[in-house]
Amino acid sequence: MITASVTTRSEVLQSMEGFLKENMGTFLKSVETSWQPADFLPDSRQDTFFDEVKLLRERAQGLSYDLLAVLIGDTITEEALPNYEAWFHQLDDLNRDPNNGWAQWIRGWTSEENRHGDLLNRYLYLTGRVNMREFEISTHYLINDGFDLGTAHDPYRAFVYTSYQEMATNISHRRVGQLARTAGDDQLSRLCGMIAGDENRHARVYKTFVEKIFEVDPSEMMLAFEDMMRKKIVMPAHYMREMGVEMGKTFGHFTDAAQRLGVYTSHDYTEILDTLIQEWKIEGMTGLNPAAEKARDYVVALPNRLRRVADRMPIPRLEYKFKWID
Ligand SMILES: [Fe+2]
Ligand SMILES: [Fe+2]
Repeated sequence: MITASVTTRSEVLQSMEGFLKENMGTFLKSVETSWQPADFLPDSRQDTFFDEVKLLRERAQGLSYDLLAVLIGDTITEEALPNYEAWFHQLDDLNRDPNNGWAQWIRGWTSEENRHGDLLNRYLYLTGRVNMREFEISTHYLINDGFDLGTAHDPYRAFVYTSYQEMATNISHRRVGQLARTAGDDQLSRLCGMIAGDENRHARVYKTFVEKIFEVDPSEMMLAFEDMMRKKIVMPAHYMREMGVEMGKTFGHFTDAAQRLGVYTSHDYTEILDTLIQEWKIEGMTGLNPAAEKARDYVVALPNRLRRVADRMPIPRLEYKFKWID
């Protein structure tokens, strides 16, 4: 039921706080039942450690150059977690009180995400195929440079962004896992599967936030959605760079490799949009002001426009040599 008193973003978010607290147990896994990176990596206390590492290295030999490069790029973006957390804390009207449901969610989300970079980083180190210093420099740059995700300090825009981004990382980790399995690296496949599972659950939560906001503040939510789609959702990987390489170039080659492998393509971007339009029931949404009705129509028409552009894009060739891989 829409109440006339719910008008500002602050009030809308406050009105959802109880819902968040009630559902936190399904949004997040408890620490006690969560997987940890150590579950998927050789235990250095054991005598079998060196044999297990040897096996890990042998399996990792089967990964193609492109697959390894994409995995490294994915890991760098996971490792920039301090910036995502800082970005959350800059959003208006969230987090004011540490016991608030929103603050609880942000801490829980961060602690789950924190395992992703740890796990992938340690795996990459053990493969013996990665120039760890160059990889660490790229992580250092990404955190130090910062990034503009196009949301300003608006939680509505931020939740559109995170819905999108979590779905994209789910797709990308899942597909890297599938390709790793095909290449004979079951261990990497399993580990990507665990991460993809988290991303999927996180995506569901952010989509639920947006769904709830649509129920109480449909016009403003629609305008935020439209604004993010007009700007295009820019992944943090966009801002990734290697030492001595111009900003943008590293991402260009990374995304080319991801397209060649089919790990994450422009079609996926459009399909995520399709899913959001469908799940948020955008097409038949009523109760909107005139500006929001226009925004709705723009968003609904967008997937077909994007598909026409994507069909004209050539598949990028293989040429680039990343500093991350010797
Ligand atoms: Fe992640
Ligand atoms: Fe995530």
